Amino acid sequence: MATVAGRIAAHPLTEAIGARIECDLATLLAPESGPELRRLLVDRGVLLVPQANLSDEQQVTLASHIGRIREEGEKGIFKITLDNKANAQALYLKGSMNWHMDGTHDTVPVFGSLLSGRVLSREGGQTEFANSYAAYDALPQAMKDRIADLRVEHSFAVSMERCGVERTPETAAHWDSIPLQQHALVWTHASGRKSLVIGCHASHVVGMDRAESDALLAELMDWVTQPRFTWRHEWTVGDLLIWDNTGVLHRALPYPIGSGRMMHRTTLLGEEAFS
Ligand code: OGA
Ligand code: MN
Repeated sequence: MATVAGRIAAHPLTEAIGARIECDLATLLAPESGPELRRLLVDRGVLLVPQANLSDEQQVTLASHIGRIREEGEKGIFKITLDNKANAQALYLKGSMNWHMDGTHDTVPVFGSLLSGRVLSREGGQTEFANSYAAYDALPQAMKDRIADLRVEHSFAVSMERCGVERTPETAAHWDSIPLQQHALVWTHASGRKSLVIGCHASHVVGMDRAESDALLAELMDWVTQPRFTWRHEWTVGDLLIWDNTGVLHRALPYPIGSGRMMHRTTLLGEEAFS
């Protein structure tokens, strides 16, 4: 089993992000493959296993080899759908149509997620990723110097307003119960790598004039989401995506509420606090 790495082939999806994983099911699910998959995940930001066709149990098993599973949904499977009969929190998932990181309202964001395509939308519903490690590294030095010490306030309510969910007494009570957080704009990880902490939850740069803050955050979002740092997945039922939430942004392209789109997600607990 020492040669497991040799049985997992990884093909870059683009120069800056992603790898397509090719291996047989037994190798994918072998405990000793976990460290190699994790290494590839951290290195490439996103892993695609086309047509993995995992059962829920197999997905949870695989997740447990890569990290520690967050208890959510049923038996580690959280249903990503806009159908509020299948997920009471469906409304909030509209927020996933804007570029975001998961868990910016926590001090330790989730490490990553595994997402399986179960039912696809006939229109839209692709998932896109942007590598914010690579985007940070490629910034001009003047911009790196300008943002080095900035902190950004993150707000769930702002992310909801930005995706057009109506503020009502009920929604507001929930939104405002989620704590605001201030995180360093440039996250220096224990590994020494640096990524940008931005996305639709990023409300404003702390202590900066609002117009200047809006312009800076918009400029950085445009930078990170340039084609050279991004990759879009066109789903086929049974595909599996795994992403490193600490250094990639992601979003779903818009799809109709009644599309039936259903993804099964398993989330990996965070391991490192924002800086
Ligand atoms: C998520 C998410 C995107 C998608 O599960 O956190 O943002 O394409 N999903 O469903
Ligand atoms: Mn998300």
